[in-house]
Amino acid sequence: MASPYPDGDREKVASKLPSALQQQLKVRAAELALDIQEAVEAAITDWRAVERPGFEVETAGAKSFSTWLPPGLYEDFKTTCTDRGVSYTQGLAQSIRDWLDAHPSPQDGVPTTEPERKIVCNQKGGVGKTTISAGIAEVEAETPGVGAKCLRDFIDDITSTELERLARTRDQLLDLVSGYSAGGRRVLLVDYDPQLHLSKQLGIDPIPVGEESLVSHMTGEAHGDIRDLIVTIDEPRFSGRLHVLPGTRAGFLLDSKLALTAAQSRGFQKETALERALHPLEADYDVIVIDSPPSLGLSMDAGLYYARRRPNEKPGRSGVLIPVQSEDSSADAYDMLDSQIQDLEDDLHLHIDRLGIVVNLFDSRRGYIATSSLEEWHALDDETVIGVLDDLKEQRETVRLKRPLLAYVPESKQANLMRLIVAGAGK
Ligand SMILES: Nc1ncnc2c1ncn2[C@@H]1O[C@H](COP(=O)(O)OP(=O)(O)OP(=O)(O)O)[C@@H](O)[C@H]1O
Ligand SMILES: [Mg+2]
Repeated sequence: MASPYPDGDREKVASKLPSALQQQLKVRAAELALDIQEAVEAAITDWRAVERPGFEVETAGAKSFSTWLPPGLYEDFKTTCTDRGVSYTQGLAQSIRDWLDAHPSPQDGVPTTEPERKIVCNQKGGVGKTTISAGIAEVEAETPGVGAKCLRDFIDDITSTELERLARTRDQLLDLVSGYSAGGRRVLLVDYDPQLHLSKQLGIDPIPVGEESLVSHMTGEAHGDIRDLIVTIDEPRFSGRLHVLPGTRAGFLLDSKLALTAAQSRGFQKETALERALHPLEADYDVIVIDSPPSLGLSMDAGLYYARRRPNEKPGRSGVLIPVQSEDSSADAYDMLDSQIQDLEDDLHLHIDRLGIVVNLFDSRRGYIATSSLEEWHALDDETVIGVLDDLKEQRETVRLKRPLLAYVPESKQANLMRLIVAGAGK
């Protein structure tokens, strides 16, 4: 629908656009000091100039959107939509998506010395926190360039069943991985779980109780340098870039130690304890991945706080990644974790980005229970399913052999699914 602009040189256009795109458009136009109408005009003009067959943008739930365009442009746009067989809403969504991609935020290029911080958590045990923490850390640290090729080959051969599980088309996946840049990064994997599974699975000795560890650095009892605790994974694929901060059984007392220290020392903040402890090594890393224990106590608040969006940090760069299973008890556990995150955000006035959900150990033989539950994960409003993993034998073998997955079977399905998780996290 179009009506004349008050000063006569533009006409009002009323259409629909998904609210996420409306929001991004508003922010990006402001960042680039443009009017929204100028941005939309450029977006539509560029979109009409080049056809991209197969390109589609999710428009379910699009909301009313209006702006002002030069006379005639909207009519021309509608003709192009008809010629390309897409709805006006789809045409506008494609125009804006392309324009956003072609006009990145000035923040994107701002060099930062702060590492990306990703916490993998769920208080439900055995859902895959350790498996996924290690997997994504390895993907970020592997030889640069090789992962992108493995991933493209994997998507070329992906089955329709896999696509259905991920609720994506092949083209959407190819689009997702088109700017894939993981690999070659300096990565720290933190074993934040006193069960020590991560350390043990990678063949690393845990830190004995009584010695300085992440726990004593968090409670302010340590005197040494936290960097002295770091162990390097010795596999050619990571060329010295993948490091581990080993766990300690002393972590079983971390919640009570944090509470006690806060009670005894004025000014000690429990939630910032992990940030203070890891601060001295941040400059050495591009990515820090934290493998959490299956709990929801004070130590988890400190972990979630550490993964919050920092001032000027790009949305989706740091945040929480949640492995779940396709069953009802996982949904209950998710609801509790979700409330804890929201409470922390409200209480401390901060924002914790949701990087996505990974549905792990998916077993289609469980029929309706598994498939209906997967549908429910896909239907969550604030989360995206960024991976669906079956029970794969290579994963169990790596644990038995105490070797990183990407060193043992770098071209396996499991390795590529880990790359896909990294590609989709925070998008
Ligand atoms: N996709 C998979 N295929 C095969 N085995 C898997 C897969 N995911 C996890 N496992 C195995 O299942 C077990 C539990 O996984 P993991 O240790 O990653 O879960 P967790 O959430 O970290 O558990 P916890 O809460 O005890 O820390 C491990 O033995 C792991 O090797
Ligand atoms: Mg674990």
